[in-house]
Amino acid sequence: MCGIFAYTGNKNASKILIDGLKALEYRGYDSSGIFVHGVGNIKSTGGIENLKEKIGSNFQGTTGISHLRWATHGQPTKNNAHPHTDCTEKVFIVHNGIIENYKEIKEKLISLGHKFISETDSEVISHLIEDNLKTEKDFENAVSKSLSVLNGTFGIIASYVNEPNKIIVARMGAPVVLGIGDGENFVASDPSPIIRHTKNIVYLHDGDIAIVTPDSYDIYTLDNNIINRDIEVIDWEVEQIQKDGHEHFMLKEIINCPNTVNDTLRGRLMTEEGLAKLGGLEIVADKLRDINRIIIVGCGSAYYAGLIGEYMLEEYAEIQVEVEIGSEFRYRKPIIDKNTVVLAISQSGETADTLEAIREAKRKGALTLGIVNTVGSTIARETDAGIYNHAGPEIGVASTKAFISQITALSLITIFLGRQRQMSLTMGKRIGEELLELPKKIDSILNNKEEIRKLAEKYSKYKNLLYIGRKYNYPIAFEGALKLKEVSYVHAEGYGAGEMKHGPLAMIDENFPTVAISLDDSVYKKVISNMEEIKARKGKVLAIATEGDSGIKSLADDVMYIPKTLEMLSPILSIIPLQLFAYYFALKNDCNVDKPRNLAKSVTVE
Ligand code: G6P
Repeated sequence: MCGIFAYTGNKNASKILIDGLKALEYRGYDSSGIFVHGVGNIKSTGGIENLKEKIGSNFQGTTGISHLRWATHGQPTKNNAHPHTDCTEKVFIVHNGIIENYKEIKEKLISLGHKFISETDSEVISHLIEDNLKTEKDFENAVSKSLSVLNGTFGIIASYVNEPNKIIVARMGAPVVLGIGDGENFVASDPSPIIRHTKNIVYLHDGDIAIVTPDSYDIYTLDNNIINRDIEVIDWEVEQIQKDGHEHFMLKEIINCPNTVNDTLRGRLMTEEGLAKLGGLEIVADKLRDINRIIIVGCGSAYYAGLIGEYMLEEYAEIQVEVEIGSEFRYRKPIIDKNTVVLAISQSGETADTLEAIREAKRKGALTLGIVNTVGSTIARETDAGIYNHAGPEIGVASTKAFISQITALSLITIFLGRQRQMSLTMGKRIGEELLELPKKIDSILNNKEEIRKLAEKYSKYKNLLYIGRKYNYPIAFEGALKLKEVSYVHAEGYGAGEMKHGPLAMIDENFPTVAISLDDSVYKKVISNMEEIKARKGKVLAIATEGDSGIKSLADDVMYIPKTLEMLSPILSIIPLQLFAYYFALKNDCNVDKPRNLAKSVTVE
């Protein structure tokens, strides 16, 4: 989720751009860069302050483009930072999104003599424009011809040294807005860097190309027809824009989950062949054929995602799996042989306990893998191979979309390893097809968020809650309870439903409700009898059930429904109502959902 920002007018562009990038920082950042006409191109790793320091006070010009990078392809290095240029250093571009067919384009351009300096997908855009400038009559045509061969998502701003007062902008799948000023115009990923200068915003649509100068903006469709887009007057504050108008990042991030699943899957499923194409595992693919044991390590939600992975990998890849919290693994004496893989799961890629577990595993000679969201983070760098989540930055301290993405990534790894072993083509296809259905199923749960809010408010008076589930939804009982604990400070306990009679049942009375994940799956009848045990002790039950199961209403006091999917993928759906439940429950109790007391997003100490 990079940020792009451009200015053309009569003021000092670099100052406006640097201030604007700061407003985009919430989108995540690991490096940044700026190009100003007549002055030059400067890039830097780290935060905006580093870039500002490099620019100094002599970087004066009136048109420029800038970028804040959250890496998806290639490490967060200076060369990989934007703006990218071409061989002649006349074309400069910034890009937010993913160019899926960049490898093919890059190979072709290299064969034509182009020299690339970065590992990014984005750099192909500047070289493509350079190439098309040889045959097209002007910059505009060279840009639109280049765009026509790109697959994937993009918000792009392009600049050409021969046309210093013009920027060309395009949108496909990644948001781009124009800010319309008086003798000056702006372009950005969202209005947050613009509204301090002008409240007049034009939202570009997918397929729009805009030619922007200080005094004009003309919008065309990809097939070159001029089009009118209305100016909207924005009266939001910067914070509201950053949260997409939602009250909190936590809600924004839950609502973003359909996109998160798509982003984690993008370009990785070969549904017809029933395969998962995981570039990050290719270098160790042969070694992975020989492994017979996986130890998954993680902390917090990442650990619970690992527990779900254990069920998936054992059932479908037929590999023995153990899951450990990082802080325990590092002090145990793990038995590791040459056929054991240690897989770290971490959103931040910096969690100290998970990192130390990986280091210990390496000392013992294990092959180490990672499922990491933050490109270039320590765990990503120190593991031998792995896959990135591509979930975008997560700002709410309690993990929501990253957790969903971690389970999605584990399903991809299950297909990858399963198909190396006994998993049939039919099964590989079935999981792949069902994964692709998940975004719209998540959407249908999100459409019921008002009902979930009412239920959360109804239950918000309780001080203790139990969460129960079995098999694939056993870890969801823990994760559901963790969400409530984290954001509402209420005591919530996750338990295996079958364990109720071995202790927790003693706590149950009319003031201690249970959230029961009781889906129409292979353990349905078992969970139902656990619910009956609770009802017999006057306990209240809030069930998460499969759509169409009206019978459950005669047993449960309240029900939140989710659509049916493959049992192994059901946690990706069942956690959504529990995340929303925790969110609304906490709000009703006036808690700070985005920044719960005593907690940190990234725990880099032991
Ligand atoms: C913290 C966060 C949790 C997260 C855990 C592991 O406790 O608050 O949301 O699950 O760390 O973080 P990681 O970055 O390794 O996934």
